[in-house]
Amino acid sequence: PFPVYNRLRQTTPVRYDETRSCWDVFRYDDVHAVLKDPAAFSSRRALAVREKETILTMDPPRHNQMRSLVNKAFTPKVVNDLGPRIAAITDELLDSVLSQGRMDIVHDFAVPLPVIVIAELLGVPPEDRHLFKEWSDVLVKGPEQNTDEEFRQVIDEKIKATDELTAYFTKIISQRRTETAEDLISILLRSEIEGQKLSDEEVISFSILLLAAGNETTTNLITNGVRRLTEDPQLQQRLSQTPEDIPAFIEEVLRYYPPVQAIGRVATRDIEIGGQRIKAGDQVVSWVASANRDETKFDNPDQFILERKPNSHLSFGFGIHFCLGAPLARLEGQIAIRKMMERMKEIQLQSGIQLTPIPSPFVYGVKEFPVSFRTLQ
Ligand code: HEM
Repeated sequence: PFPVYNRLRQTTPVRYDETRSCWDVFRYDDVHAVLKDPAAFSSRRALAVREKETILTMDPPRHNQMRSLVNKAFTPKVVNDLGPRIAAITDELLDSVLSQGRMDIVHDFAVPLPVIVIAELLGVPPEDRHLFKEWSDVLVKGPEQNTDEEFRQVIDEKIKATDELTAYFTKIISQRRTETAEDLISILLRSEIEGQKLSDEEVISFSILLLAAGNETTTNLITNGVRRLTEDPQLQQRLSQTPEDIPAFIEEVLRYYPPVQAIGRVATRDIEIGGQRIKAGDQVVSWVASANRDETKFDNPDQFILERKPNSHLSFGFGIHFCLGAPLARLEGQIAIRKMMERMKEIQLQSGIQLTPIPSPFVYGVKEFPVSFRTLQ
């Protein structure tokens, strides 16, 4: 899609798309202007069936309150303490495929890692993890053929998964009310701002949001990173020799192959962006994947440059809704690549493989990424 964004940024940087009934915004400065102005560009939107209002779809002042509460639970300490566990889970996943010399990065590695990490963060016992994987797959599923029947079927599956998750979390919450534990749900239940506490329902919706917002995105970050390493064997060799470059590598993967391509808002009043008059109530789609390749912001934007500094990509959004899970996603991405570099070399896409993109214009990733490799340890 990137050559298309480059063209649209030049020809129609802000355009109204009649077929989708929304505005598209392609330049860095315009995307930035939309995201930093929640008063003019609201995050509130029509909710899907069974979808509850969450932090993601709130505007100030409610958003500030909710965000301060969850920030208290999602602290750098909580995230950093997960480091050794993430490394151990990563090793376990690699242990089970290493001797074969080949694996599917998506299914064997990049899908299970974030699911297991979130399950642990929420304090879900290991024997229930497979349930979590199934539920979280359904939550992010989109219809693939676009027939009415398939659409209804996907909606039904999502309703079922949400109901099951709600029942599951209700059970967990009632256990946690009687014992003191340090998992995220227990911390959320205890946290308080100006005498305000989260209701059980709010804790449940937030936990479900974490599954929906954190799993597929991190899966694609890891897969896109490995994809980049197979496209550039020299870079692969360099990272294996200088693992201290891995954080910069992950930032550049985020800019170059962003898992989330675009972010939606609704105009609350008539407002001008990039010389176009947007009307109150209009939908506005900000293409961060295009902003990340804007030549007025990044030198040689179509080149993958490990030394890029600063690297002010917008892949985690910007402003008040900036991704809450960014530190966790970065940590998982870094550990995943570090472990692969420690234990594998000559990682290559298996020959004759035709990559299948994930069928959503807003997600950048592939369905499978089968590689061959040699083992180091
Ligand atoms: C918000 C991307 C991983 C939880 C966002 C937003 C983006 C984003 C673009 C802003 C949405 C908006 O402005 O409307 C990503 C990417 C990830 C990732 C690319 C992986 C590479 C995670 C993880 C978690 C998470 C691991 C949690 C475990 C959230 C939450 C919000 C959010 C709760 C809402 C924050 C708010 O509305 O204040 N993410 N995300 N994300 N993300 Fe992430």
